[in-house]
Amino acid sequence: MASFREMRFDDLFKINSLVFDALTEVYSLTFFVKHLLEFPGLSRIAEAPGPEGPLMGYIFGHYVAKQNQEPHSHVAALTVSPEYRRLGLATALMDYLFIAASHKGASFVNLFMRASNQAAYHLYTSMGYAHRQTLEDYYPDDPEPENAFEMRKYIPHPMEVH
Ligand SMILES: CC(C)(COP(=O)(O)OP(=O)(O)OC[C@H]1O[C@@H](n2cnc3c(N)ncnc32)[C@H](O)[C@@H]1OP(=O)(O)O)[C@@H](O)C(=O)NCCC(=O)NCCS
Repeated sequence: MASFREMRFDDLFKINSLVFDALTEVYSLTFFVKHLLEFPGLSRIAEAPGPEGPLMGYIFGHYVAKQNQEPHSHVAALTVSPEYRRLGLATALMDYLFIAASHKGASFVNLFMRASNQAAYHLYTSMGYAHRQTLEDYYPDDPEPENAFEMRKYIPHPMEVH
């Protein structure tokens, strides 16, 4: 059984084993620290039982509320350790972010994924995310850059009755 909690700064020193996955986006420690400070409540970690239970997966979300843009949450990183996959952890982490984003007043949740990432594509479409656009050569890999898909899911907000 997994337990879920808010990510803490000291977790950043334990996520190395997870970020070595080829399909996991790697960011600097500064990025993660800034992220936790700027967007409290939008990052979540899943850990195995026990006092020093290993980290099973995490999600980093942020919130975008710029002029001329619909307010939305963006999934900056989502990964689940290979030994804990297909147990519903990514679904639970994404569900959490969706609800947190909804409470903040976001119109939708979106993310960018590698066009070749079949597992991620199946995950997001199974959760109601739809392909919104293709960003050409978004990932500057050597020798061949790779396209990204923007996946997006709108958050239903109840209509106000006056
Ligand atoms: C993609 C990833 C996050 C999925 O995590 P997960 O915890 O295994 O996902 P879930 O157990 O919640 O899967 C839910 C559904 O997604 C789909 N899915 C997940 N992994 C899949 C795979 N390898 N192949 C096909 N479908 C898959 C299935 O429909 C699955 O439901 P099912 O198990 O009942 O068939 C995980 O494989 C991962 O961390 N990959 C490397 C990093 C990465 O790609 N992150 C996403 C970047 S955009």
